Amino acid sequence: MTSNQKDMKGMKRALTNYGDAEFSLYLRTAFIKAMGYTDEALDRPIIGIVDTHSGYNPCHATVPDLIAAIKRGTMLAGGLPIEFPTISLHESFAYPTSMFLRNLMAMDTEEMIRAQPMDAVVLIGGCDKTVPAQLMAAASADIPAITVVTGPMLSGSHRGERVGACTDCRRFWAQYRAGEIDAPEIDEITNNLVPSGGTCGVMGTASTIACMTEALGMMLPGGATIPAVLADRFRHAEKAGQRAVELAADGLTPSRIITPASLANALRMLLAIGGSTNGIVHLAAIAGRLGIDIDYQAFDQMGRETPVLIDLKPSGSYYMDDLYRAGGLAPVFRELKPLLNLDCLTVSGRTLGEEIDDLPAAFRQEVVRTIDQPIHQGGSIAVLNGNLAGSGAIIKQSAGTPQLMAHTGKAVVFESIEDMAARIDDPDLKVSETDVLVMKNCGPRGAPGMPEAGYIPIPKKLARNGVKDMVRISDGRMSGTAFGTIVLHASPESAIGGPLALVENGDLITLDVPNRLLTLNVEESELERRRAYLKPPVDPTTLRGYLRLYHEQVNQAEKGCDFDFMTAHETVAKTP
Ligand code: FES
Repeated sequence: MTSNQKDMKGMKRALTNYGDAEFSLYLRTAFIKAMGYTDEALDRPIIGIVDTHSGYNPCHATVPDLIAAIKRGTMLAGGLPIEFPTISLHESFAYPTSMFLRNLMAMDTEEMIRAQPMDAVVLIGGCDKTVPAQLMAAASADIPAITVVTGPMLSGSHRGERVGACTDCRRFWAQYRAGEIDAPEIDEITNNLVPSGGTCGVMGTASTIACMTEALGMMLPGGATIPAVLADRFRHAEKAGQRAVELAADGLTPSRIITPASLANALRMLLAIGGSTNGIVHLAAIAGRLGIDIDYQAFDQMGRETPVLIDLKPSGSYYMDDLYRAGGLAPVFRELKPLLNLDCLTVSGRTLGEEIDDLPAAFRQEVVRTIDQPIHQGGSIAVLNGNLAGSGAIIKQSAGTPQLMAHTGKAVVFESIEDMAARIDDPDLKVSETDVLVMKNCGPRGAPGMPEAGYIPIPKKLARNGVKDMVRISDGRMSGTAFGTIVLHASPESAIGGPLALVENGDLITLDVPNRLLTLNVEESELERRRAYLKPPVDPTTLRGYLRLYHEQVNQAEKGCDFDFMTAHETVAKTP
């Protein structure tokens, strides 16, 4: 868009190029009038609404009602709301993995925001990859934008026990694998695990990203935790529609809100909520759109001084609807206030500090702890160094087994996800509970799409003997709803010759979380010898279409797995 077009408002923005701007506007006006608009309506500020409803996305089941509420708010404030579709991604309906498609959704959203006339945009996201994709797009398109999430699902009940997706999904599946529950019961459980529309009801990736987005300032206060089906969710959406009209007038763009300081606030929130490890990958991608790098050593240090305050699954015991009833993020913001950058602007037009000062009064509740009595003392996510961590690997120690945080064991190596799936339950697999399970080729390029396969299941024969956790290492990701002593995001990934590619069966591996080390106890000369024989697992010239683009352009985990050509041209700052 030329700078001249950027200054245009409403229908005059982003005119189709026929070489005659007046003709373009005339034609556009004629076409949109086919939908019954009056000139008066078309003269108003236009608020685009990103419609991510899809029959394949139960986490977005309520989007039509959210759109209605946002439209109501927009019209109350004198704007003209126009919704438009983009790609929608659900975790269980995206082959090979939704992460592979996140960048496609980000490109789709960015280009549709840019291509169509709108003075501000309301981004309706929810399921894991959707909000990151939209924030990446908004950062690049840089017109006023505001996020509304679909909100968490309610919790359900199975035979009198409270359940919710998806920490309990994994717990029940582990029990089924261990022979503790039978096939009819696992079928019955599918009726109750996801009792309503909305995103996963624990502190998984969707909830994590929603909380981080509120801390980042891209969402109106209170919006992260309201359950998807409650009336309050729709009141929040109405307010967002209203606020979008003011944002359009103020010209408050994402690049003024997403800064190193506000990204640091989002990272602080990630740590304090014991959030998903995926949160850091997505934040790196959003920051990368504005030329901001994550400083992982500084992030680790931040982790050491940020206790986990929320008692939510998978690190704790409650569900998202409990967090909402406990005041949402208000008690978290109150506790974190001394650690946050309070001058950061938010989409409300006020600073984070002003918003925190205006929070509703505190009341007694049990879900959010105080900073003096946290659920976990510092460092929910630790950044590992050492010869096996390469340029970085991470572990969510708050979801791991304390006794395994310093552990040496023999490597049991799987060459790929397929290899792991084929052999993990083989009764002849040579494995004991003190071994370290290693999975290669699970990274951004190798898998492709860095799937959430890092949660390598405990081999059935060990699970049946009561083994609940082992040290597991991969260059993949893990669902935010999963738990275990699991090292993730080893970078560079094995598919491009990272250190993980050099591990062989029987090598001794040491995980030392207190000292932030991941070590392959093999002589450098031997590693050098192995390196000489490495071959890339895939020849990119045999690929086509989006898969080839992905393979050739995706960057590594510490950069957010964005496409290199979508990031800012240069690094201008670091965070935290
Ligand atoms: Fe959509 Fe978990 S599957 S948030």
